[in-house]
Amino acid sequence: MHITAMTARRATRGLSGTVRVPGDKSISHRALMFGALAVGETRITGLLEGEDVLRTAAAMRALGATVTQDAPGTWRVSGRGIGGLAEPADVLDMGNAGTAARLISGILAGHGIFCVLTGDASLRKRPMRRVIDPLSASGAVFFAREGGRLPMAIRGARDPLPLDYTLPVASAQVKSAVLLCGLCAGGTTRVVEPEPTRDHTETMLRHFGATVQVQDTAAGREILLTGQPELRAADVAVPADPSSAAFPLVAACVVPGSSIVLQGVGLNPLRNGLLATLREMGADIRIEAARTEGGEPVGDLHVTHTGLRGIEIPPERAPSMIDEFPALAVAAATAAGTTRMRGLAELRVKESDRLAAVAAMLHANGVRHTIDGDDLIVQGGNGAPVSGGGLVATHMDHRIAMSALVLGQVAEQPLRIDDGGFIDTSFPSFAALMRGLGAEISADG
Ligand code: S3P
Repeated sequence: MHITAMTARRATRGLSGTVRVPGDKSISHRALMFGALAVGETRITGLLEGEDVLRTAAAMRALGATVTQDAPGTWRVSGRGIGGLAEPADVLDMGNAGTAARLISGILAGHGIFCVLTGDASLRKRPMRRVIDPLSASGAVFFAREGGRLPMAIRGARDPLPLDYTLPVASAQVKSAVLLCGLCAGGTTRVVEPEPTRDHTETMLRHFGATVQVQDTAAGREILLTGQPELRAADVAVPADPSSAAFPLVAACVVPGSSIVLQGVGLNPLRNGLLATLREMGADIRIEAARTEGGEPVGDLHVTHTGLRGIEIPPERAPSMIDEFPALAVAAATAAGTTRMRGLAELRVKESDRLAAVAAMLHANGVRHTIDGDDLIVQGGNGAPVSGGGLVATHMDHRIAMSALVLGQVAEQPLRIDDGGFIDTSFPSFAALMRGLGAEISADG
């Protein structure tokens, strides 16, 4: 990926237009993986064709599935069945994609094959111990770098044991890795999550014919998966990604005079913390044409600019908007008063240390803020533009890059980012889509 410095300038008029952001990254990864584990041909529409998902497609091919693109967004996967994946001939390079690396670790742990996983410099810094520890109890053997980092070798279990695991961190990736390993195990795999996280794995497993029971218990949300199901190919329609929609959504909330429509956005209740938060801050967001697509709730979001006010976001809401805090920090920078975002420890282990990266973005552009333990506190400018003029270090993190370019829409001085290339991991059409709405974003040089 080559380095692309980019510049954002203050939008000269309100944003307007109707757009659809690309397909959901979480659901796209899972659709390819479940297709590869199912018997028969799965047809996927609306697949995100970002770098991260293309890594998953390549990995599924390397493991023996047939994965083909019929048209933009429309893909077919011919699966090998549970336990049927083949040993890859080479290292699987997952690029920047943490979700792919964690979920595929779960799949590999349940297959009696040898495999080495690696990734780019960002992914090689991210903790894998959180999946190595629970998956090892299945009988799989892992060798990783110091601190549980990639590259990592996996010798999967030939006859994996079912796992019983209570999540020590709120992580849908860890939950999913355990459940995917459980597909290959005889007996029932049990996961308890004290704080609920996105449930796309559970929903899609059922869609492919697995038996998954979910219930609330005193210890948290309990998920029971019956092992060794016959997964049957099933069509998947991928909704527009709420985590990508967050960027034009926040842009329309902060640029005066804006009114935009975001079509077909996923509204899974375990993903919609940003929507609830922006509404509490006073945002005017209407959900139109609410419907269900591919088993997931979706709707069109009509967003009209109004002034925002600062609020406190409780820590228990963090999992439902874990990828949206960089964008929320931009909204907070323009709000009246203080916004306190609580319980952000997990932000430190994303594509970058997002807590530090967001703070540095705000600092470079004249937004007052503090970090207090795991909380980020932002002083809003009450609708006034931020001073801007800063150079933002994106640290190989697509969401820092996009957040900074949105902040630039309300900056007095042009704001630059060192590298927008990683935006392609999740939202390749970002700059063009935002420009189409009236945003001022350009590649340098
Ligand atoms: C994801 C889960 C979240 C999220 C990531 C996608 C998933 O990570 O940040 O972008 O698809 O399961 P964690 O499980 O580490 O919180």
